[in-house]
Amino acid sequence: MKVVDNISRMATLVKIHKKEGKSVGFVPTMGYLHEGHLSLVKTAKKHTDVVIMSIFVNPIQFGPGEDLAKYPRDLKHDEELAGSAGVDIIFYPSAKDMYPPGYCTYVNVEGLTDNLCGRSRPGHFRGVTTVVAKLFGIVKPDIAYFGQKDAQQAIIIKKMAEDLNTGVEIKVLPTVREVDGLAMSSRNMYLSASEREDASILYQSLEQAEYLIDKGERDAKKVIKAIETMIKEKTSSKIDYISIVDTKELKDVDTISGEVLIALAVFIGKTRLIDNIIKKVTADVK
Ligand code: PAF
Repeated sequence: MKVVDNISRMATLVKIHKKEGKSVGFVPTMGYLHEGHLSLVKTAKKHTDVVIMSIFVNPIQFGPGEDLAKYPRDLKHDEELAGSAGVDIIFYPSAKDMYPPGYCTYVNVEGLTDNLCGRSRPGHFRGVTTVVAKLFGIVKPDIAYFGQKDAQQAIIIKKMAEDLNTGVEIKVLPTVREVDGLAMSSRNMYLSASEREDASILYQSLEQAEYLIDKGERDAKKVIKAIETMIKEKTSSKIDYISIVDTKELKDVDTISGEVLIALAVFIGKTRLIDNIIKKVTADVK
């Protein structure tokens, strides 16, 4: 496995592989890898000839007061995990090369970024789509892989890839969870032992929502209230949002029908965690 920290060297390597007729799979990350990232790599290995992973803590997707400075970093450990999962090249650019003085081009997906995390973290998705567009330009992947845990991000990136005619196929793979259901995330390492225990309430509350819908509940407000009640039982929790939206425009729904995204962001202590499920309602029971 190669580690490449130079943008033009990365682009040249890609050119060489493409000339040899090889397909490129791409897993963009901010590092501090966990099983969620590795599951993306394992799938990329099955579909494509060369798997490239980027590790870049993208400063422009963090707002003021967010955790950019303390975001966990451990390149040595990441190299071991990426190598054992079968990554061929780690792309590890510096912020000053990605955003040199005078940098002034940004990618913004409108509408889809207004609700959910876009509402709580203004400018976040502009930072995400900008860096992903730049990475696509450098790595020129055939297929890029993202996790369902960041459901809104995945939907926005799909739209960007399509709208900008990138030719990159976007694959979204299921959330990988700990045994108690907590979605794997690099930010879980911020949690104290008791917060870690409390954090399992996020997925449990989503499972409860699913149960209510399966039993016939179609009133989004009632389902949201049930989730809220469960989460509030944990004293370390502070709800950022709990929303039920359609999966096309990410707009809040009053009545649950068709396919909906049930998404939430909750602070457990000082750590903001997100999770979601997609629920398909085939026939109205009530
Ligand atoms: O999901 C992430 O880790 C980041 O938002 C991404 C897609 C690597 C862009 O920085």
